[in-house]
Amino acid sequence: MEKLMSNGHNHLHVQDKHVFPLGERPDLSQVCHSYTFPVIDLKDLDGHHRMKVVYEIRRACEEDGFFQIINHGVPETVMKSMMDIAKEFFEMPVEDRVCLYSEDPQQAVRVSTSFNVTKDEFFDCKDFLRHPCHPLEKFINSWPQKPALYREVAGKYAKEIRVLILRLLAAISEVLRQDSDYLNAIFGKHSQVLLINYYPTCPNPDLTFGVSPHSDSGGINVLMQGDVSGLQVLKDGKWFAVEPIPNAFVVNVADQIEVVSNGRFKSAEHRGVTNTTTARISIPTFYGPSLDAFIAPAASTVDEEHPALYRGHKFEEYMTAFWSQGLKGKSILDRFKIEISS
Ligand code: OGA
Ligand code: NI
Repeated sequence: MEKLMSNGHNHLHVQDKHVFPLGERPDLSQVCHSYTFPVIDLKDLDGHHRMKVVYEIRRACEEDGFFQIINHGVPETVMKSMMDIAKEFFEMPVEDRVCLYSEDPQQAVRVSTSFNVTKDEFFDCKDFLRHPCHPLEKFINSWPQKPALYREVAGKYAKEIRVLILRLLAAISEVLRQDSDYLNAIFGKHSQVLLINYYPTCPNPDLTFGVSPHSDSGGINVLMQGDVSGLQVLKDGKWFAVEPIPNAFVVNVADQIEVVSNGRFKSAEHRGVTNTTTARISIPTFYGPSLDAFIAPAASTVDEEHPALYRGHKFEEYMTAFWSQGLKGKSILDRFKIEISS
């Protein structure tokens, strides 16, 4: 299978389609490695000091859009089993992945490469597996059958992550001065998608991306990035690496929560870069509204001084736009901005 990168051949050179034009490349010498995104301890989230933790979440959502969490409640064994089975998935003979290969984003369960190969102008250096997780009973029988334990392990992981995310959504609802059920309610039937990104080692990390600059589409994402760094976040016009912390998750605000917060929370642009020595696996869970849910700035965020910055929309409208082009910064969310005339 020539289309997948995880095909057992070592590429000594990146292929032409992976070489980004001058000016669009990562410029790795300019990346800052010494800033630490907020690390929030969730131990007290459901205890006496809840307000303190909620305050830290608020600061992180407002200032960085990205933070890491520890004592998050997901057992280390569940995290490790998920990472191990993800590795196993991409180390199987390519024939065992090809049966799931699809270039159609509407295909719910699929293996593919880059982001959206029928739209990408230049290709990201990654293969991926993605599939929906919620409701679990509806989808689990459509997940990969190999490795033999995949469904069991990923099912456990998906359940734990959902519990964690619902706790985060309650806290964020409170930050928005709504009751804690607010986001849970406006997300309708909810959507949860598990993505496993496989970034092979790359001989020329300065010419290409693991994943091109973008913001995420959904509500909130929880990423297990393992122990190989590669994630970078744009902050004040500069790229900052998010260095892995063992057993922590990286959390980020995605576009729909930027809308609900009326721009107070940043759905930060981010990207992934490759390296020459170690293949990297990252496992984001994208969590957000169901396609039929209506997303608009929360009433508590709009007043005379703070007019609505985004127009309300069905999440489906956003997702149709999202799949209509390659990854390009925050260009999709821009289509939902309201022009404020002065
Ligand atoms: C993504 C993403 C970052 C990473 O898949 O949307 O931003 O570290 N991944 O793999
Ligand atoms: Ni992303």
